[in-house]
Amino acid sequence: MALTCNLIRNTVALGNCIDLMKQMPSRSADFILTDPPYITRYLDRSGRSVMNDDNADWLGPSFEQAYRVLKCNSFCVSFYGWSKADLFLTAWRNAGFRIVGHLVFRKSYASSAKFLRYEHEQAYLLAKGQPELPEFPLGDVIDWPRSTGNRFHPTQKPVEVLKPLIRAFSSRGDLVLDPFCGSGSTLIAARDTGRNYVGFELDEKHHDSAVTRLAAEIRG
Ligand SMILES: C[S@@+](CC[C@H](N)C(=O)[O-])C[C@H]1O[C@@H](n2cnc3c(N)ncnc32)[C@H](O)[C@@H]1O
Repeated sequence: MALTCNLIRNTVALGNCIDLMKQMPSRSADFILTDPPYITRYLDRSGRSVMNDDNADWLGPSFEQAYRVLKCNSFCVSFYGWSKADLFLTAWRNAGFRIVGHLVFRKSYASSAKFLRYEHEQAYLLAKGQPELPEFPLGDVIDWPRSTGNRFHPTQKPVEVLKPLIRAFSSRGDLVLDPFCGSGSTLIAARDTGRNYVGFELDEKHHDSAVTRLAAEIRG
């Protein structure tokens, strides 16, 4: 079903998610699962960087739109960079979200080591309105069994880690939105759990990867 004339379900669109979300009707997404830039000027071992990881200009406007397009009494799970937690929390609260949980993803390896061995990722559970309490709540520490190898994206998330979040906070046939979809990991997890999806990505090469991965895994 078309969201508007330009944005179609089960597609990934190339562009700035702030502009693309403005094309979506209010209250049209059932669940948002996203992994925005951590605002850390990240560089991986081969020198790959992430667009918009060097500034926070996009943070407030993108979560304002995310809040608007999310249905009432629904959830957004957003990964975030712990060194900029204050900026993320301010942006989410200013957009209207309530902070209702925090998720820690326990890695079986260290991503890097400086003052500590950095062995976890993290995300907040954000609510719009007053969603019903679940009968069987998801635990807030989730195992992150292995590295993806970051073949498609320098900060690629494992699809298997995303599926329990999608199952917990949406239903089959729902629309899952990822405004910062990178190489499409959330979109694959949504599709594989029987949800519809829409993804947005600013970087053409990651957009191409998402399109390729979705097409390949449909064939495979
Ligand atoms: C942390 S990465 C997401 C990686 C993804 N979870 C994966 O597994 O491939 C964040 C992505 O947001 C994209 N991005 C940054 N600013 C954006 C914007 N304004 N609109 C859409 N995408 C944006 C970056 O290009 C990057 O690919």
